[in-house]
Amino acid sequence: MQLIEGEKEKILACVEEILGSNSKKQEDLIPILQKVQAKLGYLPGLAMEKIARGVGVPAADVYALATFYNQFRLNPPGKHQVKVCLGTACYMVGGDITLESFERRMEIKEGETSPDRLYSLERVACVGCCTMAPVVVVDDEVEGKVTPTRVDGIMLALQEDNSKGRREEKSGQEAGEVK
Ligand code: FES
Repeated sequence: MQLIEGEKEKILACVEEILGSNSKKQEDLIPILQKVQAKLGYLPGLAMEKIARGVGVPAADVYALATFYNQFRLNPPGKHQVKVCLGTACYMVGGDITLESFERRMEIKEGETSPDRLYSLERVACVGCCTMAPVVVVDDEVEGKVTPTRVDGIMLALQEDNSKGRREEKSGQEAGEVK
């Protein structure tokens, strides 16, 4: 995933700070990765490389550790985070079709974030609302009985929210220029 403006500096400063305040033994790798993720929202490749150098292990080892545990995310969270439940009850009534519908509309695969960082898509296990299967969690809101048509509706609402955000940002900039 391409870094956005100013992100490289932010990543390097974050890792430096965390490495500076931690012991840098190999067994400290997991807590270091957790702290970096808590601060950045994910584990960028650049952060893993810098951590590897700091701890004195190959970057491939850090990457292998981060991919082994599913508490770590390797892609930045999107502005809108969609989690599709593929627990048994949801899967039985088409959770996989719901997931494919989101993948097609967002033009990404599960586990990925769109290049503009507006959307990230994940699969999750049972979220405890099986009677509403198939279930999707959109920005912490639970949506039930999500058919492909409902996916269209959700995507429209998210796109509308993105346009509103852009309009507000633009008018905020214009107000700043007028001052
Ligand atoms: S299996 Fe999806 S909510 Fe339980």
